[in-house]
Amino acid sequence: MCGIIGYTGSGTGDVLDVLMTGLSGLEYRGYDSAGVAVANSSLEVYKREGEVSALENAVPDSDLDGLAGIGHTRWSTHGPPTDANAHPHTDDDGRVAVVHNGIIENYQALRRELEADGYTFTSDTDTEVVPHLIRSALDSGADRETAFRQAVQRLEGSYAVATVFNGSETVYAARNESPLVLGIGEDGHYLASDVPAFIEFTDRVVYLEDGQFARVNPSGIVVTDDQGAIVETAVETVDWDPEDAGKSGYDHYMLKEIHEQPTAIRKCLRERVTELEGSIDVAELADLEVEGPVQFVACGTSYHAALYGARLLRERGVPAQSFLASEYDVDAVPLPEGSLVVGVTQSGETADTMSALRAANRAGATTLALTNVVGSSAARECDHVMYIRAGPEIGVAATKTFVSQQVALAMLSSVVSGRGSQEFAQQLRALPDQIQQVLDESTAREVAAAYEDADAYFFIGRGYNAPVALEGALKMKEITYNHAEGFAAGELKHGPLALVTDSTPVFALVTEGDDVSKTLGNVKEVEARDAPIVAVTDIPDQVSAYADHVLEVPSSGPRFTPILANIQLQLVAYWIANRLDRSIDKPRNLAKSVTVK
Ligand code: F6R
Repeated sequence: MCGIIGYTGSGTGDVLDVLMTGLSGLEYRGYDSAGVAVANSSLEVYKREGEVSALENAVPDSDLDGLAGIGHTRWSTHGPPTDANAHPHTDDDGRVAVVHNGIIENYQALRRELEADGYTFTSDTDTEVVPHLIRSALDSGADRETAFRQAVQRLEGSYAVATVFNGSETVYAARNESPLVLGIGEDGHYLASDVPAFIEFTDRVVYLEDGQFARVNPSGIVVTDDQGAIVETAVETVDWDPEDAGKSGYDHYMLKEIHEQPTAIRKCLRERVTELEGSIDVAELADLEVEGPVQFVACGTSYHAALYGARLLRERGVPAQSFLASEYDVDAVPLPEGSLVVGVTQSGETADTMSALRAANRAGATTLALTNVVGSSAARECDHVMYIRAGPEIGVAATKTFVSQQVALAMLSSVVSGRGSQEFAQQLRALPDQIQQVLDESTAREVAAAYEDADAYFFIGRGYNAPVALEGALKMKEITYNHAEGFAAGELKHGPLALVTDSTPVFALVTEGDDVSKTLGNVKEVEARDAPIVAVTDIPDQVSAYADHVLEVPSSGPRFTPILANIQLQLVAYWIANRLDRSIDKPRNLAKSVTVK
């Protein structure tokens, strides 16, 4: 939800380039507007509604050399996506510029106070109080750093905020419940919401903690607490390859990331699964002790993975439940001694998931983050962390991270239950090649051509296929903007069947071991209402007779064949969206990292 970037460098002429590169790497966080402020003797501010490309056209060709700069890409919360609401925001005289990610909950009271003092507001945003608060502190005689700190101390809510002043090469920053990472480069220093913003320039990072402040200038980075006392920080090296963040010849990040799934799974399994012995050993979880039930908290696609993971645990004798993080209520759900609460979160920053994990932590549960992002809030705040190792995912619609979550959850189920088997390990190890086979042989593109004009799309599956049906529908909604719904197959007849017509293709997930005859019964129910059937199956001999189209997948047993079926659904959604010329990597109204509640 909004991306921020800051840079101060010893080389001249590169501030704007670095900011623009950074904004492109952060656009997955929001693309309603973009803007930059470059500090010289004055501040030069450019901002535009729309994507970073619109900003690029707005910035004059003239050399915009500067001492330091900040940039922002916005996912709108307060006020529509307009030039006026775009960040950076400035004080009345344009001497202070601010970018912000998060929500300032007390902004209305602050705005009333500042307006009464004569400060003028030009936007609908909560952020605009910050430059005026800084200016107010400067007017009262505070130096710049103190003015910044005093302003931030007045804020309630969540924020990652960065500020530059005219005539200064320093960027000031602070965070509370919104991510902020500092980058240490050869020729300059960086700050950003996320590492992809500056990975091209440096892989050495310092993660800022809640309540900390940073002073960043060409000679170094100083981190302080809220009283200004210097805090020791650890410099970490991130192992993302900048190449991973490019499109590598694919038209869209999403298609690239779908094709990266075999590699992502191999990385996820590496050194964790020994096929010969059938053992699964996750080094990060060596100290994990679980005596009580397991609860999962997650949102969106990650929630679908959590549903899948909970089922795996239950099957292995461990009581497990999944909760939508935004609905999680520790007071209503008993957390017996020894309970484990697992936050499934690709970004590790989702506000609803973080809030549920913090509540579980306060209630005394052991917490585990299952995440993709090293150093994310979830990784740092939970008692344990297991990385899914999918590599950077830029497409807003989650694909490779969902599959990596499923595989990581399969390993987790084995570790927590203490029940592994050679067959389980072998099936996991076989997945990358089987996914490759699906990618190589899929006829999803033809199915997309046949059904691009449907009124709505339904997805049904039972058992391990039920969460995959939900995920198939979510992908279809997100990137095609068409109506799609996923159901546990048995639920269709309890209401949704009323919506089924000859213009509502039904994608039926029918895989061996999931009570095939019952799902086929559900298929016949929709067939009788003339709905076209697309079967996704590893048993075409049993299913083809009932289907208009078959998307075949290899067999990998009842638990893992649904993982393969999901790949077909990703491809169908992608190709329909492609035919409809949708904004596939940046679907309207969405953003990748949802750091508001
Ligand atoms: C859908 C999608 C979202 C996320 C959800 C949670 O394609 O990506 O539904 O799954 O916003 O995000 P994380 O996993 O970062 O907590």
